[in-house]
Amino acid sequence: MRVLVTGGAGYIGSVTVAILARMGHEVTVLDNLSKGHRAAVDDQAELSVTDLGDRGAVAEVVRRSRPEATIHFAAQSLVGESMEAPLRYYRGNVGGTLNLLEALDGSGCRAFVFSSTAAVYGAPTESPLEPISESHHLSPTSVYGDTKLACERMVTWACRASAIASVALRYFNAAGATATLGEDHVPETHLIPNIVQAALGRLPTISMFGDDYPTEDGTAVRDYVHVADLAAAHVTAVELLMSGGIGHGALNLGTGTGHSVAEVIESVRRVSGQHVEVVRGPRRPGDPPALVASGELARSVLGWVPSFVAIDDITASAWKWAQRFPGGYPE
Ligand SMILES: NC(=O)c1ccc[n+]([C@@H]2O[C@H](COP(=O)([O-])OP(=O)(O)OC[C@H]3O[C@@H](n4cnc5c(N)ncnc54)[C@H](O)[C@@H]3O)[C@@H](O)[C@H]2O)c1
Repeated sequence: MRVLVTGGAGYIGSVTVAILARMGHEVTVLDNLSKGHRAAVDDQAELSVTDLGDRGAVAEVVRRSRPEATIHFAAQSLVGESMEAPLRYYRGNVGGTLNLLEALDGSGCRAFVFSSTAAVYGAPTESPLEPISESHHLSPTSVYGDTKLACERMVTWACRASAIASVALRYFNAAGATATLGEDHVPETHLIPNIVQAALGRLPTISMFGDDYPTEDGTAVRDYVHVADLAAAHVTAVELLMSGGIGHGALNLGTGTGHSVAEVIESVRRVSGQHVEVVRGPRRPGDPPALVASGELARSVLGWVPSFVAIDDITASAWKWAQRFPGGYPE
């Protein structure tokens, strides 16, 4: 199968590309390398350094690569930055997705998987510690989440009109690494890579934002999904879309189990055997106490069962990768 992967030089995209390439699929990566890394792209895949904002160039990549399926990971995804530069986020995420969908219309592409996020739900409206299902109210509290929701809707309508089967996968917190591919963002806003950097002695301390939440230990609870499990779900989704096994919709990708910030820090201390200095600070505005997925729908529709559930297995994979590549990917 010919597969176009936007954002395939990024964290989750690169792991997905590696699996697709290993399966023998013909993969084209479209990435502007703004956050991704050339070294993260599998040798078997073809990398086109292209910006989704460049409508003509995107159309050219589609013409050349003739994808049967597309997985669209590329996006700007920093919540704080999105609040400061909303128009840049609407242009980048919504405008970029529009250019891609226009290029795919009538191209022969038959399946489209969109990277969405738990941020489309906003703060849980029911009991804050209840797992969130796909029927939960959609009420993003950030520009980032709102651009993803706008894209989800555009993807659904456009793909329906273009006879492309599509699905949005809403990830909770991607985490962990494979033996060769891991998380290397600048700036890094995610918890686990930052704790790991502190354990390596490359960061002096790790900040804990809020210890007075209504959770067991007072720190915020999140659902951490291993990046290899996320990637596997994309491959299955493409296969099912191509065979008519699923239609349009959205599925959560989470383990259904939450871990608090304090638990995750403790886990990294355990797997690394290193001391990590913690600085306690106030809550960050807009951070809900807990975000945990109900993964029932993905389980029944995709038959997807995450293989990494124990938090120590997830943090250990991130720790191993960081020990191997302490400064991240070579540029
Ligand atoms: N990491 C998470 O925990 C998480 C959670 C929920 C949703 N998501 C979504 O999953 C997707 C992948 O996330 P990630 O963590 O791998 O991010 P990432 O930043 O590592 O990867 C995104 C890739 O897209 C590329 N890119 C960005 N804008 C582009 C543009 N205009 N044109 C071409 N390429 C562009 C970047 O260079 C990068 O390689 C994103 O859409 C993100 O919003 C991530």
